[in-house]
Amino acid sequence: MHNAAFAALGLNWRYLAFEVDPQNLRAAIEGARVMHFAGLNLTVPHKLLAVDMVDELAASAKKWGAVNTIKFEAGYEGKIRAVGYNTDADGITRSLREDLQLELRGAEVLLLGAGGAGRTAALKLAAENVAELFLVNRTQSKAEEIAAEIKRQFPAVAVTVGYPKTDVDLILNATSLGLKPADASSLDEKQFSLKQARAVYDMIYRPAETKLLAAAKAAGCKTANGLGMLLHQGVAAFEIWTGATAPRDVMRRALEETIYEH
Ligand code: ATR
Repeated sequence: MHNAAFAALGLNWRYLAFEVDPQNLRAAIEGARVMHFAGLNLTVPHKLLAVDMVDELAASAKKWGAVNTIKFEAGYEGKIRAVGYNTDADGITRSLREDLQLELRGAEVLLLGAGGAGRTAALKLAAENVAELFLVNRTQSKAEEIAAEIKRQFPAVAVTVGYPKTDVDLILNATSLGLKPADASSLDEKQFSLKQARAVYDMIYRPAETKLLAAAKAAGCKTANGLGMLLHQGVAAFEIWTGATAPRDVMRRALEETIYEH
């Protein structure tokens, strides 16, 4: 999506993927800086590690405690500074609004998963003033830690660890279950029926339809996959690096074409 966007704007830039061992992350960031890269995106497992490796944290990275975007900026005396941002959190809520037409304020949400993505989603939803969050995770203690953090930061939001007893406006899958064809659904339907949910969002975008989304559609729920979230975090990163308005439609088309071509 970034290369398509650079081409559309006539920028002679390139977006490339590099696999970096976490123990080399600091060296990789330093290498990109001295090679005059414009910026970086970081993904699992680098987002938390990078927080301590940049020269400055933008408000978004401070707020969400994770860095998925770095911009290299000219500082004093020609020194280049690495500034860390987080564009994931806004990507989640933009996509929920755009793809599911969901009103988040006052919503009842069942969130599956308490890893990095689940934590960001939980805190962002709380910041958007959802009424109640139900947190479910294989490792319950991680859901409990997030619940405690929400109680501290957002005392007006009700938070429960476990499945809801009543209907919800949204089920949000933030686990990695569904990435592989053999994976079970991330929702235990013995504990909670899809008939009790208005909408289901799966952060997974490949496959385009996980078992959870297929079952949700069959149960009559409104559904969306994580493509919109991927797009929106990318749009925000593009604008941070280039200072230009991102060509969203070009980026969305490029994503759809490349992600689903194989
Ligand atoms: P990410 O940054 O994508 O969130 P992560 O931090 O590794 O990645 O989190 C993965 C999430 O998927 C976690 O909620 C994890 O549950 P645990 O906290 O119990 O590990 C969940 N997950 C992964 N594999 C799973 C499985 N086989 N069954 C249930 N949950 C699983």
